[in-house]
Amino acid sequence: MIYLDNHATTPCDRRVAESMMTWLVEQFGNPHSTSHEMGREAADAIESSLEQIAMTLGVTSETLLVTSGATESNNLAIDGVCRHPRQKRKHFVTSTIEHPSILDVAKRLQRDGYRVSFIGVHPQGHELAGQVNLDELSRVVDEGTALVSIHWANNEIGVIQPMAQIAEITHQFGSLLHSDATQAVGRIEVKLDAADVDLVSASAHKFYGPKGVGLLTFGGGAERRRVRLKPLFVGGGQQRNLRSGTMSPANVIAMATALGFAVEELASTESSVRGLRNQFFATLSGAIDGIELNGLALDSGQRLAGNLNLMLPDIEGEAWMAACREVAFSSGSACSSVDADASHVIMGLGRSESEARRSVRFGIGKFNTQSEITHASQLLIDSYRRLRV
Ligand SMILES: Cc1ncc(COP(=O)(O)O)c(C=O)c1O
Repeated sequence: MIYLDNHATTPCDRRVAESMMTWLVEQFGNPHSTSHEMGREAADAIESSLEQIAMTLGVTSETLLVTSGATESNNLAIDGVCRHPRQKRKHFVTSTIEHPSILDVAKRLQRDGYRVSFIGVHPQGHELAGQVNLDELSRVVDEGTALVSIHWANNEIGVIQPMAQIAEITHQFGSLLHSDATQAVGRIEVKLDAADVDLVSASAHKFYGPKGVGLLTFGGGAERRRVRLKPLFVGGGQQRNLRSGTMSPANVIAMATALGFAVEELASTESSVRGLRNQFFATLSGAIDGIELNGLALDSGQRLAGNLNLMLPDIEGEAWMAACREVAFSSGSACSSVDADASHVIMGLGRSESEARRSVRFGIGKFNTQSEITHASQLLIDSYRRLRV
């Protein structure tokens, strides 16, 4: 199997998995049981890992919460801000191409009587295809807006959003800005002391860490605006009462280790996956007439280096996947969708439902090799030709 689905998840780096072992087997103390040495050791390990993560992201560790992943972080950011008892503003703004862990929370707010605006993105063919329409954003943000949530980078078409401009528009009326940076952290530079973003979500399994652990930063952006969060659930009062539940030292240490490696190796990984992705695209588009790119041009500088999203002229993505089982790739957003709906991201670009169904996503990661790309291209081309006859 050739794994080309690194937007859905990445393999856990062996060095990261090894960093967890002691904390699972030998030093297994509960980090909240600080009355004895084993608990204190676990608590210290968590604290120093959080310091490390905070430094990498350009925030302080007091602004970090550890969660079970980006789905929880996104829920906590949106519901936490909008449903806080002292929140007077009842308007929430997001884009049409967000992950379901944003869109479904937005729809629930709408059902509960909140005003919710979904901002469109520039259509396919536009030079900013997939980037949010900033004019539309300026028109909808007002003094009633509690929170704007725009993802840093998209999980299907890899478009990187203009966060600085989004921040400027959001803050004009004193609203807060959240960004789902799940696809950005560890892949491009995300420095919150430079970016004016008030809340940020990330997930370790997207940067070669384990699944089931993520983070939310709050109040750590350049301006350090006060963020009031209503917790999603109650319990033991861990993490300043904002996220109850026993923390896992192994997971937190792994997330810190993974992030450390991802950032250290960011430039070399970016350049190698970009080269492989470009070669992959050249081979496929040379062999399949009428294949089209979804999203921004590959050399736009605003597209994740490992991302490729293609629209086939005549065959559905699902059929291509079924015909080429040796390659792992996806149609639509497989990391999130359990149903087979046509991709809302591709349709958000103005493509039709049938065009969305003919679209597929590849995500090239740091462990992919030149020979895998050559082999995968051949398998995909052969299976495409078999489907055409
Ligand atoms: C942009 C984006 N947001 C959120 C998520 C959900 O992350 P998690 O699997 O950590 O809940 C994903 C991937 O699944 C994603 O790509």
